[in-house]
Amino acid sequence: MANKGLFISFEGGEGAGKSTLIHKIADWLRSEDREVIETHEPGGTALAGDIRKLLLEKPAVAPKTELLLFLAARAEHVHDVIIPALNEGKIVLCDRFQDSTVAYQGFARNLGVKETLELCEYASGGLEPSLTLYLDIPPQIGLERAKKATKREKTDRMEAEKLEFHEKVRKGFLSLAEMFPQRIRLIDATNSAEVVYQTAVQQIKTLL
Ligand SMILES: Nc1ncnc2c1ncn2[C@@H]1O[C@H](COP(=O)(O)OP(=O)(O)OP(=O)(O)O)[C@@H](O)[C@H]1O
Ligand SMILES: [Mg+2]
Repeated sequence: MANKGLFISFEGGEGAGKSTLIHKIADWLRSEDREVIETHEPGGTALAGDIRKLLLEKPAVAPKTELLLFLAARAEHVHDVIIPALNEGKIVLCDRFQDSTVAYQGFARNLGVKETLELCEYASGGLEPSLTLYLDIPPQIGLERAKKATKREKTDRMEAEKLEFHEKVRKGFLSLAEMFPQRIRLIDATNSAEVVYQTAVQQIKTLL
């Protein structure tokens, strides 16, 4: 798939600092006169946004339904937003992508890593990020951060999962980082936001 842009995904558990980092990276790249879009999953289009709502607000969803809805949102997002932006030569910064699907649904919901990877490839038409920055953090710290940040009483269905579930998600991300060492760079997200940002800048500079 020939396109001129650059696709970077940001991964990690709840409250790892993905959104904070993406905004800073976008500001930096724009200050260097790069064309950047910031987008996120599940979401990025009206339909994918509706799927996100369904997914995160419903009290319970069967694991396979959850996986397929995430992938339906992915297919839409890739087709309508990511590919067109890459074809226009833009840098696409995406908050969560396929590694979240494999970590949450493949590992933590036990749907199978191989199966989930295959379905991801189908949904995205084989599109993969050139670089994935995985923000690694013990879930307890991440969940605390997220809770403080939103000041919401209500948590979404993923956040509301037991700590054990989030530990499994983290293990999933760590195995993915081992499986795809070329693409996935692990950043210790317990560091300050500034240190995380500087580390990310160094990683991205190697691609520009
Ligand atoms: N390195 C850091 N050290 C301490 N606090 C941080 C750091 N990075 C982000 N934060 C703070 O932690 C909170 C959560 O950060 P952020 O929303 O960026 O995480 P996230 O990974 O996008 O979370 P979510 O998965 O819930 O979207 C925010 O209040 C943010 O200011
Ligand atoms: Mg976020």
